[in-house]
Amino acid sequence: MDIESLIVEDLKRQIFRVHRSVMTSQEIFELERERIFNRCWLYIGHESEIEKPGDFRRRDVGGRPLIFIRGRDGVVRVFHNSCTHWGAKVCRLDQGNANSFQCFYHAWTFNNQGDLIAIPDAGGYPKDFNRAELALKSPPHVDNYRGLYFVSFNPDAEPLSDYLGGAREYMDLILDQSEAGMRVVAGTQMYTVRANWKLMATNSLDTYHAPPLHTTYFSYMAKFKGLDYEAETNSFGIRDGGRGLSLGNGHGVGESAPSGVARPIAHWHPMFGEPARDEINRVRKRIFDRFGPERGGLMCDTFRLFLIYPNFVFHDVMAVTLRYFEPVGPDAVRLTVYAMAPKDESKEQLELRLNNFVSFLGPGGFAHPDDLEAIESCQDGFRSREVEWSDFSKGMNRDPEVMDELPMRAFWRQWQAQMLGRDRATRFDDLKVTGNGVAAAGK
Ligand SMILES: [Fe+2]
Repeated sequence: MDIESLIVEDLKRQIFRVHRSVMTSQEIFELERERIFNRCWLYIGHESEIEKPGDFRRRDVGGRPLIFIRGRDGVVRVFHNSCTHWGAKVCRLDQGNANSFQCFYHAWTFNNQGDLIAIPDAGGYPKDFNRAELALKSPPHVDNYRGLYFVSFNPDAEPLSDYLGGAREYMDLILDQSEAGMRVVAGTQMYTVRANWKLMATNSLDTYHAPPLHTTYFSYMAKFKGLDYEAETNSFGIRDGGRGLSLGNGHGVGESAPSGVARPIAHWHPMFGEPARDEINRVRKRIFDRFGPERGGLMCDTFRLFLIYPNFVFHDVMAVTLRYFEPVGPDAVRLTVYAMAPKDESKEQLELRLNNFVSFLGPGGFAHPDDLEAIESCQDGFRSREVEWSDFSKGMNRDPEVMDELPMRAFWRQWQAQMLGRDRATRFDDLKVTGNGVAAAGK
């Protein structure tokens, strides 16, 4: 397969196109497993999900059934959820608290640190039988960035902090929202979408679609805020001052300075109710006191959608949501979505946050189902094989605005580099074209 030919970047014509077979081919899907998901760092969970010794979450990551668990010793570990005897899953619950896991097939038993502690009819094995060898197995690398845990199945993986690179700064904008720390709020949305995982990745970085696709949500918000919906439809206040950036290594962000309909993210608004006014103003002041006007302004007065390559998304818009997706085939992806909140947030604020999470993003929400419908529609449209290319050229001719497609181009460049067996694309940003041909990288 000629991976080089699957992406066309024509600098003179300022065209960037991706061949649609990358979204439909079984062969590509299998190569992605090997060259992307077996090599990258992949998100597995947040420390707050397993706060107490013995707490665990069952997770599928990179095509493996895993257990994300805090041991009796307080250490966070990840185990393959597969008995070292014959292979059955030792953990058959999505979450809980356990001292040990007993395989239901032959009752081999492991403690919450992975050690093999009991074998029925142990007399059937020699006296010096090495139980340590048969402990639950862990991926070669497990590490965390400020409580966000990642795994890598690549024995030669670079350090997680190098991998995250420029994305760390954006993670900090969220993780610094409270001195008390952030936590994952109970209540997980899980669903499968009939679309290629890369359609989900690029949708997650995309703001261009918001005005035409999410009309239900925007008109609902406009009504709430007493705004003239028609007058707002050109920009929704999203475009002004926003930008799309590559954060290196395939990571990217769309950052907006909201006004108009999208405005009251970190500002009190009558729709939040009078009791919320003091708390919102207090939080805002605390952030500005701690981080100063520039960073405080970024945290409170802008919002962002960003992707940690290849499959982990922060949606810092009106509520902080984390979303990660696990490809299950060329045309299906399983999503897990949950909300994150400051640990010290009041009950009332948390309720507002979760209302927003559910009304915007929920499976019955006003916006996210539009996205799912759109990407499933793309996938279905790919059946017309004669329409061979998808276009990601928007904004190659200017400093990229938030509704431009630079972050998606950065994603595709890294995707192609990895599919060619390289660790990194040689560049993520666009090259600017000058009068006498191609010149330096643009921002
Ligand atoms: Fe959307």
